[in-house]
Amino acid sequence: MESCCDRVLLVLIATSALIIHTIYAQDQDQEDFINLDCGLPSYERSPYKASTGLWFSSDEKFIQSGNTGRIREIPVGFTKQYETLRYFPNGSRNCYNLSVDKGRKYLIRTVFLYGNYDGLNIKPVFDIYLGPNLWATIDLVTRVNGTQPEILHIPTSSSLQICLVKTGTTTPVISTLELRPMVSSSSYMTESGSLKLYNRYYLNNTGYRIRYSSDVYDRIWLRLFMKEWTQISTSLNVNNSNRYVPPQVALKNAATPTNASAPLTIEWSSEKADDQYYLYSHFAEIQDLQTNETREFNMVWNENLYYGPLIPNKLQLTTIRSQSPTTCKGGKCSFQLIRTNRSTLPPLLNAFEIYTVIQFPQSETDESDVAAVKDIEATYGLSRLNWQGDPCVPQQFRWDGLNCSNTDMSTPPRITTLNLSSSGLAGTIAAVVQNLTQLETLDLSNNNLTGGVPDFLVNMKSLLVINLSRNNLTGSIPQALQREGLKLFVEGNPRLCLSDSCAKPQKNKKIVPVVASVASAAIVIVVLVVLFVLKKGKSAILQGLHLLPRTSTMNATFAEKNSRRFTYSEVIKMTNNFQRILGKGGFGMVYHGFVNGSEQVAVKVLSQSSTQGYKEFKAEVDLLLRVHHTHLVSLVGYCYEGDNLALVYEFLSNGDLKQHLSGKGGRSIINWSTRLQIALEAASGLEYLHIGCTPPMVHRDIKTANILLDENLKAKLADFGLSRSFQGGGESHDTAVAGTLGYLDPEYNHSGRLGEKSDVYSFGIVLLEMITNQPVINQTSNNSHITQCVGFKLNRGDIAEIMDPNLHKDYDFNSAWRALELAMSCANPSSSKRPSMSQVINEIKECLVCAKSGIGKNLELEPQEIMSSDTSMVPMAR
Ligand SMILES: *[C@@H]1O[C@H](CO)[C@@H](O)[C@H](O)[C@H]1NC(C)=O
Ligand SMILES: *[C@@H]1O[C@H](CO)[C@@H](O)[C@H](O)[C@H]1NC(C)=O
Ligand SMILES: *[C@@H]1O[C@H](CO)[C@@H](O)[C@H](O)[C@H]1NC(C)=O
Ligand SMILES: *[C@@H]1O[C@H](CO)[C@@H](O)[C@H](O)[C@H]1NC(C)=O
Ligand SMILES: *[C@@H]1O[C@H](CO)[C@@H](O)[C@H](O)[C@H]1NC(C)=O
Ligand SMILES: *[C@@H]1O[C@H](CO)[C@@H](O)[C@H](O)[C@H]1NC(C)=O
Ligand SMILES: *[C@@H]1O[C@H](CO)[C@@H](O)[C@H](O)[C@H]1NC(C)=O
Ligand SMILES: *[C@@H]1O[C@H](CO)[C@@H](O)[C@H](O)[C@H]1NC(C)=O
Ligand SMILES: *[C@@H]1O[C@H](CO)[C@@H](O)[C@H](O)[C@H]1NC(C)=O
Ligand SMILES: *[C@@H]1O[C@H](CO)[C@@H](O)[C@H](O)[C@H]1NC(C)=O
Repeated sequence: MESCCDRVLLVLIATSALIIHTIYAQDQDQEDFINLDCGLPSYERSPYKASTGLWFSSDEKFIQSGNTGRIREIPVGFTKQYETLRYFPNGSRNCYNLSVDKGRKYLIRTVFLYGNYDGLNIKPVFDIYLGPNLWATIDLVTRVNGTQPEILHIPTSSSLQICLVKTGTTTPVISTLELRPMVSSSSYMTESGSLKLYNRYYLNNTGYRIRYSSDVYDRIWLRLFMKEWTQISTSLNVNNSNRYVPPQVALKNAATPTNASAPLTIEWSSEKADDQYYLYSHFAEIQDLQTNETREFNMVWNENLYYGPLIPNKLQLTTIRSQSPTTCKGGKCSFQLIRTNRSTLPPLLNAFEIYTVIQFPQSETDESDVAAVKDIEATYGLSRLNWQGDPCVPQQFRWDGLNCSNTDMSTPPRITTLNLSSSGLAGTIAAVVQNLTQLETLDLSNNNLTGGVPDFLVNMKSLLVINLSRNNLTGSIPQALQREGLKLFVEGNPRLCLSDSCAKPQKNKKIVPVVASVASAAIVIVVLVVLFVLKKGKSAILQGLHLLPRTSTMNATFAEKNSRRFTYSEVIKMTNNFQRILGKGGFGMVYHGFVNGSEQVAVKVLSQSSTQGYKEFKAEVDLLLRVHHTHLVSLVGYCYEGDNLALVYEFLSNGDLKQHLSGKGGRSIINWSTRLQIALEAASGLEYLHIGCTPPMVHRDIKTANILLDENLKAKLADFGLSRSFQGGGESHDTAVAGTLGYLDPEYNHSGRLGEKSDVYSFGIVLLEMITNQPVINQTSNNSHITQCVGFKLNRGDIAEIMDPNLHKDYDFNSAWRALELAMSCANPSSSKRPSMSQVINEIKECLVCAKSGIGKNLELEPQEIMSSDTSMVPMAR
């Protein structure tokens, strides 16, 4: 079966950018965090707030290569960041380039999840590198549920390269990339190398994993508990302030051995015999001790006393850290807390972290050489697939056209050869070449270089070979270049002289006007083609919306029209003397009626007391007589007789959307995909008003009560009494009260203007109602407006809590997320950040495709992730 998401991707690429920004302000303490959702198209919904409360954005700006994919198999504990991924069919090394603070300690975490994005079910195995050094082998054959290696590392330059390296035939993939700078660089110190996370636990017998915002650095703490242990807890706060700041919630509970005289033991077996470990254990006394009670214990690691005796402080953190790394004898690691003889209570442990040392011995290429070669790449517009990551190392991935000095690992490599022969270079020889101060061979032969042979080459003393042959260089060759020990090749530059007496060519002047006129003709053609394409594009959109021919009589007043006009007595007759009330519309009651004996109609009668209503009434007739759209309620006729005004509409037997959401009036609750279908239809009616009408219209009173449903639940917009036309994308200005409280564009308060984007806002509120079935304004709550209420719940990231409980979780969560994001972007307080109705329609279509394919159906989102970290450690108690 074709996956919904392939189609989604195609649709997205084909449509114009939908930039959706959610309305929240950036949280203070995550400012420096880098959160990349790999493979997320930047126009789609970047940045967005993930369930952790962190903002994720597209990775596009940080990598030049790779394609985007969407997973098809959703793991337990799925969170949205893993929905998309980037995969790398081409090139053996593909690298992210991130700006970092040199010398600052970072927590770096990458998540890899295959999820059968390509439908081939071939799980990849590949390597990841940090700059020129191997970081980890990613084996998704073994780790079918994904893996997330993490290190604590201090970058040695101001850019950090994270590279995926093909090691076999399978295609590397990446889901997310996360960097968290640490405030204190004196935490997690090592004698050498960096720290690779082995495991990090808090000890509790229930609970999910802990991360941001409980943990300021977004470290992930898994839960650990053994049957030999007893849990103790406190409801008081534990002071967690030291340079490790483990989360307070992790410290509020601890494990003690149930057998009070037994030690508390944690054991694991080391992967490699020479693995070096660092241990950080976090303690706080969380029980009330009597005066005759003591808790005192020693820490033993691999049978040696490691620290002790320790008496944990009451509600105050103590962290015991390794000063130097330890290896485990025979691969058996054990760590024990043993009570002292004078202790009356068993030992306790609140949380601990274990890291292994990872060495990154290979130095990165000299930073100024990297800057120079990047500058050359930009100057000549080179795009070479393998010019990614470190230019020189590791040697097997050295950039094409370079050679480097690479004597020993601890010395930064230098670029010694730059070979850009036959690379289509045009322009002059770039001055930045002189920044490659160790350059020995410069080969620029067989290009289209023009201008002179630059003097700076004379000062590059390291140069041994310069090949400038077969270019279009002019002028003369600096005398000093003709030195001993330097091989200079210049043949095939017809206008280059060996002496200083070369004449300057005069020919190019005449070429200019010819070029200019050719260029301007080309511009005219381009403009014509663009116009043609735009025109075609627009009519295609309109056809898709069943646009009927417009009446050309739009300037005539409604009373003069030839449409079906009823007398007042006919109105009385058709409504059987106003017998059955259907509802109350703006400025009048609506009655049920029949015309021609059997055709059902809805008759809106302007109440005679309403003088204000006349204008709206007239506006509605004028509008309805000239617009026709399958998703706008159509006018059957009208009555205009003295003071008696009535509008006769087609009757829609299924009432309005509001009734269906509330279940009032015996209306059925409609399911998720039908809701999306209704939203799509209402949106296309609105889009027609915005771009299909001339002049365009704003409805100005979009709400669930104005979306009517026929017997097949087909949606039609009604009540155009407040609608206004506006010219050329402008906004309508009207001093009369407009719209309905709660649906009204907040910008109206300042500007008093309502434009298309005001309808988009109201539509966003309608969508939120359809998603949540919450009141638009809730008098009893602090977050009284629906946008506040949803925004508040979004922060907690639990979609099930947001969705209408009447749906009974029977929806595709993926489409629910998208619909929710769309609704929030429509309801953005700033009109410029709202999408257009056309963009809204595209997005709803995609939601609908996903909802129908139902890939994520009935899958409950858990606040935790169950993805294993990159280790097979299973601690065991004794
Ligand atoms: C990447 O690989 C795909 C399929 O292997 C190929 O179609 C495409 O042309 C390649 N792109 C580049 C830039 O090499
Ligand atoms: C990485 O990006 C920085 C700018 O953010 C740039 O200066 C540097 O040259 C880039 N490095 C590579 C190897 O692309
Ligand atoms: C992957 O997750 C599933 C569902 O939670 C679980 O049954 C399975 O054991 C996991 N596989 C691995 C290798 O962790
Ligand atoms: C630890 O366990 C207690 C009860 O046993 C529970 O109330 C608490 O929420 C748990 N802590 C976490 C972080 O889940
Ligand atoms: C927490 O402990 C630190 C010293 O360890 C102290 O400076 C700080 O005031 C304490 N904070 C609170 C809220 O008690
Ligand atoms: C409790 O632990 C002590 C010391 O390890 C041991 O001698 C004793 O047998 C244990 N008691 C029980 C009931 O297991
Ligand atoms: C500590 O004193 C209390 C009485 O104040 C007594 O009940 C308890 O057994 C004593 N505990 C120990 C370990 O001596
Ligand atoms: C080249 O070197 C000069 C002088 O050291 C420096 O100012 C300039 O920024 C360098 N250019 C590049 C692209 O690194
Ligand atoms: C130089 O440029 C011309 C036209 O721009 C092109 O046809 C020719 O192949 C180029 N020559 C080289 C050596 O790149
Ligand atoms: C050099 O420039 C001339 C025109 O100025 C062009 O005809 C010729 O093809 C160029 N030569 C090379 C090698 O690109």
